Amino acid sequence: MKSHALLQNRNILLGVCGGIAAYKSAELVRLLTKAGASVRVVMTEAAQQFVGALTFQALSGNPVHSSLLDPEAEAGMGHIELARWADLVLVAPATADFLARHAAGRADELLSAICRATAAPQWLAPAMNQQMWQDAATQQNVAQLQAQGIALIGPDAGSQACGEVGPGRMVEPSELVETLAAQFQSGLLQGEHLLITAGPTREPLDPVRFISNRSSGKMGFAIARAAVEAGAKVTLVAGPVTLDTPEHVTRIDVEQAEEMAEAVMTRVADASLFIATAAVADYRPATLEAEKIKKGKGETLQLTLFKNRDILAEVAASSTPPFTVGFAAETENVREYAQQKRSRKQIDMIAANQVGQPGTGFDADENALTLFWEGGEQSLPRATKQQLARQLIEYIVERMDEKS
Ligand code: PMT
Repeated sequence: MKSHALLQNRNILLGVCGGIAAYKSAELVRLLTKAGASVRVVMTEAAQQFVGALTFQALSGNPVHSSLLDPEAEAGMGHIELARWADLVLVAPATADFLARHAAGRADELLSAICRATAAPQWLAPAMNQQMWQDAATQQNVAQLQAQGIALIGPDAGSQACGEVGPGRMVEPSELVETLAAQFQSGLLQGEHLLITAGPTREPLDPVRFISNRSSGKMGFAIARAAVEAGAKVTLVAGPVTLDTPEHVTRIDVEQAEEMAEAVMTRVADASLFIATAAVADYRPATLEAEKIKKGKGETLQLTLFKNRDILAEVAASSTPPFTVGFAAETENVREYAQQKRSRKQIDMIAANQVGQPGTGFDADENALTLFWEGGEQSLPRATKQQLARQLIEYIVERMDEKS
């Protein structure tokens, strides 16, 4: 999978130290943001002698942080908030002095304090004169940091800005981005086959009209992407949406609930995991008019609707069902209705979301979910659909492991 997909919606905190390689970090920010990551830059005082903070601000689209005791920052993104915000901390370039400070457990400037306070994985890309890199104290600091689980990328060897040749060059930004992206490939669903539905269905009334809903497919597509990241083979049965197919996903486009049911039921035997994210129409018009329905004389128009097949319930009732996850879109009594749906449809897990509120649910980029399974539940607070999708996959894997 390409790096840009794996980095989408990731929060990357980039620490920039004072070395000539700091100019390369500007390109790094550009590549990370291009890959869809959210980047916040923390500069040491020395770094600001090499590159202006404005460069990083313009490229990341976020204010640059540099002071540990900045009253304004403390009110907004202080060191604890930044430490919590980060999915990954990358320090590039990491100078000999920074490695020494980090190894010594210092916390007297912003970047070191964040490194102390974060639970996110930390990656350091050293850059310094080759003699400084090979110095015994530097090597001791490196060994100590590695022993603490902090990873190093590089340095590369070659000709240096100081005119010497040897190890100490910062790894090129494009390679750094590839390495970081690989960190997010979890392998949690390696060997599994996910069959997933997403988007709305359209139930036609006549050649120009249909019954549908506001589902955009974003939640389901995000889950498909997260499953690929986790190593799964993914087949996505999509209703009519305008989204691009995530990389490495086999997509089958359908329109009506009946077509979605057929597409799912002919493939379910090969799947080890089924997730029903689609907002499937519960009913379809009893008749499909061949010509456009004309306005009648009366004030009302009666429509007769037939009930559609319940795809999720059919999958759960199949002879060897995969691990089955449904969604519940509710405007009220979310918890009660979702739990009722889970037991009625006899599925392994249900992800409930409150819909009808601005900013989450249907057609929004964010959502909030509560997961219910036999004997347990977990709420996943409001976040982007991509972040929630990744969390959802982790909980599903836990339950799948428990069941097997
Ligand atoms: O697509 P987005 O804009 O990103 O919005 C995401 C979402 C709000 C659509 C999604 O998060 C969601 O809640 N999907 C399920 C919507 C829904 O139809 O819920 P439901 O409570 O009506 O159905 C319960 C479950 O049964 C769902 O898993 C549904 O896919 C499944 N179902 C329902 C009817 C049917 N005939 N067949 C089914 O498989």
